[in-house]
Amino acid sequence: MVISLEKPGPDGLNEAVDALREWQSEGVAWQLHPGDLGWFWRSGAEATAAAVRIWRRDGRILAVGLLDGADLLRVTTAPDVRRDEELARRMAEDIVAPERGVLPPGEVSVEAPNDALLHDLLPGHGWHAGEPWTPLRRDLTEPVKDPGLRIETIGPDDCHVWADVMRGAFDGSTFTPEKWRTMATGAPYADSRYLVGYDEQGDAVAAVAVWSAGQGKPGVLEPMGVHRDHRGHGHGRAITFAAAAALRKLGSSSAGVNTPSSNVAAVATYESSGFQRLPEVRDLTRDAS
Ligand SMILES: CC(C)(COP(=O)(O)OP(=O)(O)OC[C@H]1O[C@@H](n2cnc3c(N)ncnc32)[C@H](O)[C@@H]1OP(=O)(O)O)[C@@H](O)C(=O)NCCC(=O)NCCS
Repeated sequence: MVISLEKPGPDGLNEAVDALREWQSEGVAWQLHPGDLGWFWRSGAEATAAAVRIWRRDGRILAVGLLDGADLLRVTTAPDVRRDEELARRMAEDIVAPERGVLPPGEVSVEAPNDALLHDLLPGHGWHAGEPWTPLRRDLTEPVKDPGLRIETIGPDDCHVWADVMRGAFDGSTFTPEKWRTMATGAPYADSRYLVGYDEQGDAVAAVAVWSAGQGKPGVLEPMGVHRDHRGHGHGRAITFAAAAALRKLGSSSAGVNTPSSNVAAVATYESSGFQRLPEVRDLTRDAS
């Protein structure tokens, strides 16, 4: 059976989200999550559809990729085809050939689960291990301790507060309430929560979004940040505890996050909130030739 590569229309986008949700489970390698599409949705449904790639065989979705920026493809597969040679070869061919519309020529990276066969095939095409990332995970079987910070769940009426904290936390962030409202039109929105932490002076100091993939499945944090004027007071730890508690309430079995290993502050914050490091993941990178 022939494998096809597709760019989805808006309907196909929902199918891709459903596939990603289904593929999440405990104990599998770090992988693309429906929440990643949910967060990307801040750019709108059309932009999200334009950034998604689907590989299909016999009508069944086998792999979903997200072009997260111009030069990074984040991709995962259904669990039972991680080592499927036909799929991995087809994906590698599509990824290396700019005319297939997956990645442009020049310096690009691919994030794939550690156990995906793609990791064995791409290096043959002049690729090498790129930037190290550290996934971290916290089990949610037991209740999460109180964060010790006033936490509010944010909706459309106060999304400007969440947006302000995000802009204050991430250098170069252009996040706006408008983007929040656009994000809220995405299919993954129903499984998400947006939290803001307020300090004793009543200032909004920390914010996080959490994305569930459904009952008994791993959820993720994306993004999490503390306003640059309010760092070093335990607010990062507190908002991360609150995020874990929110995911537990949504039925998630664990809370996960993936951060560049070079982001020492983030890794320390997650560890201090009860997250454990998983083996580092390396993107596959092709240098500009
Ligand atoms: C990462 C970030 C949230 C930390 O926020 P914070 O409020 O300063 O963190 P906290 O005060 O709660 O500190 C939590 C832990 O991290 C440690 N930590 C914080 N900043 C650190 C740094 N720059 N270097 C080393 N450790 C650091 C603290 O010592 C503390 O550890 P401990 O509990 O063992 O004492 C904040 O720096 C930030 O918003 N960065 C930009 C956005 C970002 O990178 N988000 C994460 C993306 S995945």
